[in-house]
Amino acid sequence: MEYEDEVEPRTLLVDFLRDNLNLTGTKIGCDTTTCGACTVLVNGRSVKSCTMLAIQANGKEILTIEGLSSDSKLNPIQQAFKDNFALQCGYCTAGMIVQAHFILSHERDLSEEKVRDMIHGNICRCTGYQNIVNAILDASRRMRA
Ligand code: FES
Ligand code: FES
Repeated sequence: MEYEDEVEPRTLLVDFLRDNLNLTGTKIGCDTTTCGACTVLVNGRSVKSCTMLAIQANGKEILTIEGLSSDSKLNPIQQAFKDNFALQCGYCTAGMIVQAHFILSHERDLSEEKVRDMIHGNICRCTGYQNIVNAILDASRRMRA
């Protein structure tokens, strides 16, 4: 879907997504590039949307958590997170799943170590990470099957 709006030059992409477009799946955890809760894909690259200005997104394709599933069905990554108990409070989950989507779009030969390395920019305060890693590996298997 294409969106057009006028924004102040200082508006962050995450604020534009949440406040102007009401795409509130993308979360703000730290606002300082630390937590990864605001992760989206910009032209296919993983970006923390609190580090980018909305005007820098002009003409670019942005994928948020809302864009990952069609209808009301969970996509394979979301289903794997659910089945592997990979979320508790859920605050990190949207960013984590978008990052998982990025990983699974680029890496076919995934190992636990590689997953851990590629989610190092996404902080989870609840799960201890093991179930998140399990979920991403499980999603990888499901998507290959
Ligand atoms: Fe963007 Fe934490 S809110 S990295
Ligand atoms: Fe609570 Fe990750 S599930 S921060």
